[in-house]
Amino acid sequence: MRFSSAPFNAFEAAVQDPKEQEEGEGGSFGRELLAGLRSKPRSISPKFFYDAAGSRLFDAICELPEYYPTRTELSILARHAGEIAQQIGPDAEIIEFGAGSLRKVRLLLDALKTPRRFVPIDISGEHLAQAADTLRADYAGLDVQPLVADYTRAFSLPAKAGGSGMRVGFFPGSTLGNFSPAEALSFLQSAAQVLRGGGLLLGVDLVKDPARLHAAYNDAQGITARFNLNLLARANAELGADFDLAGFAHTAFYNAPMQRIEMHLVSRAAQTVNLLGERLHFAEAETIHTENSHKFTIEGLRTLAARAGFGIGPVWTDPERLFSVHWLPAAQ
Ligand code: AVI
Repeated sequence: MRFSSAPFNAFEAAVQDPKEQEEGEGGSFGRELLAGLRSKPRSISPKFFYDAAGSRLFDAICELPEYYPTRTELSILARHAGEIAQQIGPDAEIIEFGAGSLRKVRLLLDALKTPRRFVPIDISGEHLAQAADTLRADYAGLDVQPLVADYTRAFSLPAKAGGSGMRVGFFPGSTLGNFSPAEALSFLQSAAQVLRGGGLLLGVDLVKDPARLHAAYNDAQGITARFNLNLLARANAELGADFDLAGFAHTAFYNAPMQRIEMHLVSRAAQTVNLLGERLHFAEAETIHTENSHKFTIEGLRTLAARAGFGIGPVWTDPERLFSVHWLPAAQ
């Protein structure tokens, strides 16, 4: 699974919050959903997109003709893997934030000289275990140590192995864009600390023609709409809510001043929904804000990274300058 836009605290402390596992009434999903729907404007954190059905829908989004980020980032990584490996050097330890597409990290591992250790960090243990087993089978000599944790909150890293090279963070997919600007800064500040003496390989989507962005988040097959509406299906299945999925419509648009795609669910009519013993009244056309996907300029990203304490290394893009992959060194 991928990330969360939940507030980021620190990298040091514990792994999973046992309180959340024990919580009744739907756990953190129920608690946060209710709080988000009581607030005005209403919102839901995008981290709740990624149950099993949502993760499958996201994988389908990545294959859509309109959704250029995944294939463009893969092409950048494939084309520049050698130069990236030169920045990193031998015996590296790779920490991936989110157990994302193994295709991406494989491109990196294949280019690196004797990579030592791979630590994928993800909130979903099942997804992680699978990813770890596959990589272990294919990369003899690579120490694969999955870590179940919400990296947007708090976690600890295993001590660096003796004789290992750089500790490198890998954060592809423009997941950083799903954070608020304050959360993105906070995440990068923590990453700069934890990766001291190494660096961060960061993939972010670039500002571009709004029509291209609009198409990527309003695909013709309606997969992104299903992904968005899956939040309500999840609330019905897990929390016994009674959202009428046909009563809400997917909408996504580019907010130019904020440099972000916004996704919302729009109530098609005045309606009442029951959730965890509460009656929530929606006016016609009222929206639930479900995701921001910030787009960056290369200079803007570099300024943000420098504020967080990173040095500025090379950046690689595709010929159309749709997407960018940044090497950000972290001082000792
Ligand atoms: C995971 N994240 C970077 C995706 C994005 O583009 O912001 C999530 C997504 N939302 C709609 N389509 C894809």
